[in-house]
Amino acid sequence: MDPSRGADLSSRAVEPLEREAQEVLSPAVFEYYRAGTGEGISRDEAAAAWRSWRFLPRLFQDVSRVSTETELFGTPLAAPVLAGPSALHTLAHPDGEAATAQGVSQAGSLLIQSARAGRKISSDRWWFQAYVLRDPSITEAQVRDAAARGARAIVLTADAPYVFRSAVPEAGSAAPENRTPGQQQDPSLSADAIGWLAAVSGLPVLVKGVLRPQDAIACVEAGAAGVIVSNHGGRQLDRAVASAYALRPVVEAVGSRVPVLVDGGIRNGADVLTALALGASAVLIGRPVLWALATGGAEGVRDLLRFYRDDLARTMAQAGVPSLAHIDDGLTARESVIPGPSA
Ligand code: FNR
Repeated sequence: MDPSRGADLSSRAVEPLEREAQEVLSPAVFEYYRAGTGEGISRDEAAAAWRSWRFLPRLFQDVSRVSTETELFGTPLAAPVLAGPSALHTLAHPDGEAATAQGVSQAGSLLIQSARAGRKISSDRWWFQAYVLRDPSITEAQVRDAAARGARAIVLTADAPYVFRSAVPEAGSAAPENRTPGQQQDPSLSADAIGWLAAVSGLPVLVKGVLRPQDAIACVEAGAAGVIVSNHGGRQLDRAVASAYALRPVVEAVGSRVPVLVDGGIRNGADVLTALALGASAVLIGRPVLWALATGGAEGVRDLLRFYRDDLARTMAQAGVPSLAHIDDGLTARESVIPGPSA
């Protein structure tokens, strides 16, 4: 694309969208979506951690055209920006996940549908996020159903042995705290679940919630086709390290073998480019998708993903990066550790 064109920055930026969403959502739902766990330390520092990296732009690159296109597990993507799994989209919009899936497809992106979804979807651009439940026959049925309905991969969320979140009044029977014991996550989950899910679904399995390089290696050795660096948007273990700092060591451990994805506090094209420069193959967006769905339905989700794509293209152009293949790890350094002449 021509980087001087594209979605208007100011109108689709994420911060005003959150304020608009607060206007249209009930206080209980807005707070459920926005919440972090504990003191909210991990939730609050996620975005700032991305912003503590600095670019070292390259000169004399032809950036009259910039391409953000890529592909993951055979699905072509307009940009390496996916809608991550989040529960209960029906609290944001009556069509729930069906509207999200539509907007995502229109933007040429991909939806990771939460196991705690309010609606089933039909799309050829989705992966299914699974929890292994205390009653694994429920998980098995969910995963088989997802594969039958066209999911292209399974995302095993491994960082949520327990859910301690407070109640969501409007969620009714779909609220996590109303689950029967068999429907709760299995707190004795092991890496063996990766091979089991792959066998049951016939699909590649990615593990979400990885922060340690050793865990990433264990996932890959157990058959994971990819890992997702994440602290669950600061909703599980408060004070879990920011994904912007955990990413590079995980990439160094497994990035040559499998794609490494990342999420948490990614709010504009500069955040996306930082993640890519640190070795991510793609990023996931959590809360902003919910704000977009609440305020604009399917179109809102489509426009949000286009904003990320266009803002990434503009940032790439200024950084001297005409395509994702031109990104190298010299493109970014911590604010306080800008490398000297040998780099
Ligand atoms: C989530 N997240 C999440 N993750 C997951 O694997 N399964 C799930 O069902 C949910 N549900 C969920 C609900 C809500 C309301 C939020 C905000 C988040 C975590 C999500 O996938 C992701 O890791 C973070 O939201 C990413 O951070 P940002 O972009 O929200 O800062």
